Amino acid sequence: GQVGKDGYRHYMEKELHEHPVAIGQTLQRITDPASKTIALPKMPFDPAQVPRVTITACGSAFYAGMVGRYWLESLARVPVEIDVASEMRYRDAPQPDKGVALLISQSGETADTLGVLRSLKKAGQSIVSVLNVEHSTMGRESDLVLGMVAGPEISVASTKAFTAQLSVLAALSIDFARARGTIDKTREETLTASLLDLPSRAAEVFTRVEAIQEMARIVAEARDVLYLGRGICTPIAFEGALKLKEISYIHAEAYAAGELKHGPISLIDRTVPVVAIAPSTILFDKTLSNLQEAKARGGRILAFTDAAGAKRLEGVAEHVVILPDVDAFVAPILYAIPVQILAYEVALLKGTDVDQPRNLAKSVTVE
Ligand code: G6P
Repeated sequence: GQVGKDGYRHYMEKELHEHPVAIGQTLQRITDPASKTIALPKMPFDPAQVPRVTITACGSAFYAGMVGRYWLESLARVPVEIDVASEMRYRDAPQPDKGVALLISQSGETADTLGVLRSLKKAGQSIVSVLNVEHSTMGRESDLVLGMVAGPEISVASTKAFTAQLSVLAALSIDFARARGTIDKTREETLTASLLDLPSRAAEVFTRVEAIQEMARIVAEARDVLYLGRGICTPIAFEGALKLKEISYIHAEAYAAGELKHGPISLIDRTVPVVAIAPSTILFDKTLSNLQEAKARGGRILAFTDAAGAKRLEGVAEHVVILPDVDAFVAPILYAIPVQILAYEVALLKGTDVDQPRNLAKSVTVE
């Protein structure tokens, strides 16, 4: 039947509030309740024998895939190739024997992603799809579907499907790592526990909305915004910039913070706010020094961080949003939420058509 807004102003606002449930339901489907371990369906191949995983997607799903690459490489020690579908489709890249193609799509109908599915299948790759709509064209043509349980997503800009995609990819990385013998039992338990704890941490993000609104007032004044992240949070900077562009029509660019000095630093002045995705993980000091460089050039630093990070950012950041402490492993999932809320709050201030932004379609079924 028809999905309502349940009293929210926009579908996007409702769907943002559904992040905790989408993550929780998705994980529930792929967790064994008794042992609290990840229990994915059996793969149609042996993960220990996989020479390479090729990840392909479009839009936000592509950024989820970028996070997936960090996880699969670092935890499961499997080489990963990744590209947007419209490029992968025509690259004519060599495919390894016994390789796996991992497609990510909310709708399961995006033309370019489907095109890649078909060509990589022809090239002999096992096809695994991470989908929200499982009874979709991609669902039917895959060797294995890993379902998200995000529920219908109406807002054109993706929200809860993104964190649900990440939840599946995190679980898949743990599953691969176990099969490949690249993590020990203790580490597996720690990672799984941090994942299963996420719905509660995600719900806590909504107690920070006022601080995000304050940040939104600064961003809404800007013509250009720079988003920075490092390591596993770089894709979250990309997601933040994409969401801001899509629904507020403010130009935003995302960079891996270490690249700042190779170009974008020349853009920085008082009028270009810098939004940092900066949990206090192993790369925090590096991000901090990148932000100090930006501040020294007159940049206004706005940061998403945790309590420890906020202390270190005193005197550097003009405004911080302090998020719950989480294991670095799940930080990209948690930090995606406030970054999307920021775009929503800016769009409200700009008065744009949040659920139906101009020129965009929910699912792009033509090339
Ligand atoms: C469109 C939407 C994006 C979405 C992308 C991929 O561009 O506006 O929000 O991320 O398609 O869609 P898919 O259904 O394949 O995840």
